[in-house]
Amino acid sequence: MLRRDPTRIELRADDLVDFERSREEYLESKAKLKDQHRKFRSATTGPPPTPAGRDLRSTTASGSGTSSGVNNSREPRPDPFEIAQQERKGKSTAERVLARATFSTYSPTCLAAVHDGKVAYTADKFPHLKRDHSFKKLSEKDISYFKSILASSSITQDEEDLEIFNSDWLRKYRGQSKLVLKPSSTEQVSKILKYCNENRLAVVPQGGNTGLVGKVEKYDKEMQKQMLHATHNAIYFITGGSVPVFDEIVVSMSSMNSIRNFDPVSGALVCDAGCILEVLDKYLEERGYIMPLDLGAKGSCHIGGNVSTNAGGLRLLRYGSLHGTVLGLEVVLPDGTILDNLSTLRKDNTGYDLKQLFIGAEGTLGIVTGVSILSPKRSKAINVALLGLNSFDQIQATFKRSKDELSEILSAFEFWDQEAIKLVKEHLVAGAKDPLQSTYPFYVLVETSGSNKDHDDYKLNNFLEGLMSDDIVQDGVVAQDTTQIHNLWAIREGIPEACSKAGAVYKYDISMPVPVLYKAVEDMKERLVSKEVIGDGKLFTSVIGYGHVGDGNLHLNVAANEFSQEATNLIEPFVFEWAAKHAGSISAEHGLGVSRNNHLHYSKSPTMIQLMIKFKQLIDPNGIMNPYKYLPDV
Ligand code: FAD
Ligand code: MLT
Ligand code: ZN
Repeated sequence: MLRRDPTRIELRADDLVDFERSREEYLESKAKLKDQHRKFRSATTGPPPTPAGRDLRSTTASGSGTSSGVNNSREPRPDPFEIAQQERKGKSTAERVLARATFSTYSPTCLAAVHDGKVAYTADKFPHLKRDHSFKKLSEKDISYFKSILASSSITQDEEDLEIFNSDWLRKYRGQSKLVLKPSSTEQVSKILKYCNENRLAVVPQGGNTGLVGKVEKYDKEMQKQMLHATHNAIYFITGGSVPVFDEIVVSMSSMNSIRNFDPVSGALVCDAGCILEVLDKYLEERGYIMPLDLGAKGSCHIGGNVSTNAGGLRLLRYGSLHGTVLGLEVVLPDGTILDNLSTLRKDNTGYDLKQLFIGAEGTLGIVTGVSILSPKRSKAINVALLGLNSFDQIQATFKRSKDELSEILSAFEFWDQEAIKLVKEHLVAGAKDPLQSTYPFYVLVETSGSNKDHDDYKLNNFLEGLMSDDIVQDGVVAQDTTQIHNLWAIREGIPEACSKAGAVYKYDISMPVPVLYKAVEDMKERLVSKEVIGDGKLFTSVIGYGHVGDGNLHLNVAANEFSQEATNLIEPFVFEWAAKHAGSISAEHGLGVSRNNHLHYSKSPTMIQLMIKFKQLIDPNGIMNPYKYLPDV
């Protein structure tokens, strides 16, 4: 007789986003609905007054539109490799590094904060971290084995070359690895891990190591001199997950970069884990599709790294998280077993959904070698509006209305505050020009993506007119062309760069219910004011808030004159306790790595953490995968 098995769980498909929204046939672009758009005319025609007596003008943002920060997949643009190639010509190594950063991320100058030879080892900065002596030290015999399975060009031992793999992109963390392996097939990854597991050699999987450090071949004296000025500006959110702590072997996925298959009917893309996100997006663009995720680091980060960090980014509001869009994974387990779950099915309720365990596992359970992901159709009509508002309550009202009135065409809803725009203007972030006439306490960037421009324009204009006449927004502009779209996004994407120039920036990435989102910034400010530690000549200079309102994700940045234990103690654990008290997460999208692992208890119960530890022990009993990170220190 059949009995119900109480251990049986079912795969859930209900959190998958409906990608079929964009199936309407794209209608050839008709004349713009200029008559109906009386409030949103081109800047050249001048802004007419609105019923509320304010102007919701067409953006006057201008510029070449080639700044690094722009969400370039929103518009056609030259091939990034071509740009890099051109920028390389006739430039010094240092300039070439900057050029690379310029197309890699939106943060060219802060990314230029490269190695000055003085970055302390992670092990010295965090003395509580001790090398696990159960791990073997690398020997000549090990090197000989790796030489027997990999081409010599896939093995890096040169001290100078190792430096870029040992350091994160902002030079906060520095490991001491003596070996980098660059496998070019899943079988090679399998042989590497099998050997490492049998010989207790610890391993760190590395994707794009997000930023220029993973791409530069050599540092030279001249470059170091030119870039020294930038090194004191550090960003504190980097979790240090992709670089070794001690002498772990780095397995770089950069040589596994082939697209394996694309189905133009379903939109399922299957590729190697080392494919660069922007390269995949360009490949899909040519076929009328789009990657369901987008990040400032798209020019450098790998899809395998995105999956392993469960990266969120700017399109999550529309397409959902990777837990929904990833259809399957190929993973090499720590003992070398190849787990082939590279399904392209949207529906498959057969057994535990094992791939979910590896999404966001930060390389602690194995190495992702292949990814199958569902790409949506690329929208043909994009609109972007920038709004100035007086309060966070107005942001919430705008967000609520955007869901009601823009509904299926709403593709992004980002916000930032006055401190953020001040820094963007102060530090002249490339391409980011504020087109609003006055300064406002808050800003919102709304993006719509649909298949019918007339339909989208009509909806957006009704939405904006309603907001203006109900006095919910004070001012606004709508981009009239792709350059203006580009420039409005440059403001949003330039904020992290601007913050990094504000001094020593403590960065927090927390999620919570939208109604309390900005309270975190206000409470932090209030705390620092009451302790008289913020202002001219004091420890802290500003508290900045921005982020993905649509996802309930706040990026809280606290700028100090310098990093110090005193400063840290004033904001931590306050910020983690605050997130826990408001049913939030201490890390919404940036992960845990080596900097947040011991704060996990603020977001997860002891029972959950215990279960996580059991999973880790089951899959990686020797603990060789990315040790010292992710789970709390024992
Ligand atoms: P890495 O940095 O190399 O690695 C990240 C982690 O994944 C490490 O623990 C590593 O061990 C592991 N890993 C990498 N590849 C594999 C693999 N194949 N198998 C197993 N483990 C692996 N994040 C957001 O969520 N939203 C944003 O908007 C956003 N913007 C960013 C902007 C900038 C300028 C930067 C620098 C980062 C940003 N990030 C953002 C952080 C984001 O997590 C990373 O950019 C990206 O997802 C990491 O990819 P990567 O290939 O660089 O991985
Ligand atoms: C962003 O949303 O801009 C990124 O997550 C990076 C950051 O917060 O600095
Ligand atoms: Zn973010």
